[in-house]
Amino acid sequence: MSPRYAHITGWGMAVPEKRLTNEDLEKMVDTSDEWIVSRTGIRERRIASADQSTATLAAEAAMRALGVANLHPADLDLIIVSTSSPEHIFPATACLVQDQIGAVKAGAFDLLAACTGFIFALNLAANMIKTDGISNALVIGSETLSRIVNWKDRNTCILFGDGAGAFVLQASDEPGGIYTGVMRSDGSGGDLLSLPGGGSKYPTCLQSVYDGLHYIHMNGREVFRFATRVMTDATQEAVAAANLTMDDIQLIIPHQANRRIIEAAARGLDFPMDKVMINVDRYGNTSTASIPIATCEAIEQGRLKAGDWTVFVGFGAGLTWGATLARWSGPFPVRRKLKPRRYRWLARLRSILARLRRHLEGLIWGRGKTA
Ligand code: UT7
Repeated sequence: MSPRYAHITGWGMAVPEKRLTNEDLEKMVDTSDEWIVSRTGIRERRIASADQSTATLAAEAAMRALGVANLHPADLDLIIVSTSSPEHIFPATACLVQDQIGAVKAGAFDLLAACTGFIFALNLAANMIKTDGISNALVIGSETLSRIVNWKDRNTCILFGDGAGAFVLQASDEPGGIYTGVMRSDGSGGDLLSLPGGGSKYPTCLQSVYDGLHYIHMNGREVFRFATRVMTDATQEAVAAANLTMDDIQLIIPHQANRRIIEAAARGLDFPMDKVMINVDRYGNTSTASIPIATCEAIEQGRLKAGDWTVFVGFGAGLTWGATLARWSGPFPVRRKLKPRRYRWLARLRSILARLRRHLEGLIWGRGKTA
């Protein structure tokens, strides 16, 4: 049997309209634009409106990615939503997205590896295409971190933003797409970056809310030191596993956490900064959404073209870190252009009918009765 490859054939992003600038933050906490820009490179971030959520942003990014790939949502076999700010603990945000876009054949689940989540999800989906015989996968990174940030804590609130990005992965016998993946974890550093409350250890109660356990807690300095080390190692490992060298790489798309971390990693790799994608200045740290959002903008700016070798590399809570090496391909050639956005209405109708059917079944068989 000839080897199968997992190509990235679609991409899309969705960010809220509302911008929160450093000047706005100066009015909220004891900070300054000068401090934030010099320590992080961030100038502004996006904040979700009341009617936006992790699932709605994810579905929006997904529809754009499906549009680029020219793929009908019903042809998806798999949806992975990577997020640390899910709609609920359960059901999985991925299932809500599956319903919203009408991906009737897809298995859907969430993956939690914090800011590294998109890399882990990408590697997982690519391997399922290569070895498990699925044809079409949707990988989404989506966050509404503004909902879990303590807006009184200047150590964290200046860093994070909201947004979503998505890739469509498709099987092909033609070489290209995702080649190698590195996935690593070190739970001994779990306390360095965490959201302690709302789980089984500290279930939500008045005391947990009083103690602020429902907010992000972070030891910035320690995370910084860890990040600069692992970004370099993971990139080198992913590139070497494909028998390439850094000279073969046209673009690195790193997790957008802090400009200084990205610069330190590039220095460690002896890699020119003009071949590293940065947009942290405009979106802040959108955690697992940052790599697909940066990819969409790299393509828009003409910095990533078919045939280019690129490395996605990230780090985050867990601790987790990882990298993915891909040869960029772009959408498969198509005969007829689909309009996946139209299928959203159909999906909504299907969802309403499914709820109605369940309601009617309840009336007929008796609610709450199982036999
Ligand atoms: O996706 C992963 C998510 N997390 C990260 O990527 C975080 C990685 N870490 C970082 O990006 C950096 O450590 C920070 C940006 C969070 C902080 O930068 P730093 O250069 O490591 O600063 P620091 O923590 O060493 O703090 C320096 C000073 C402290 O004052 P003292 O103790 O020296 O008097 C802080 O209290 O800056 C103070 N400070 C601030 N000052 C103004 C901390 N936050 C602020 C602020 N505005 N927002």
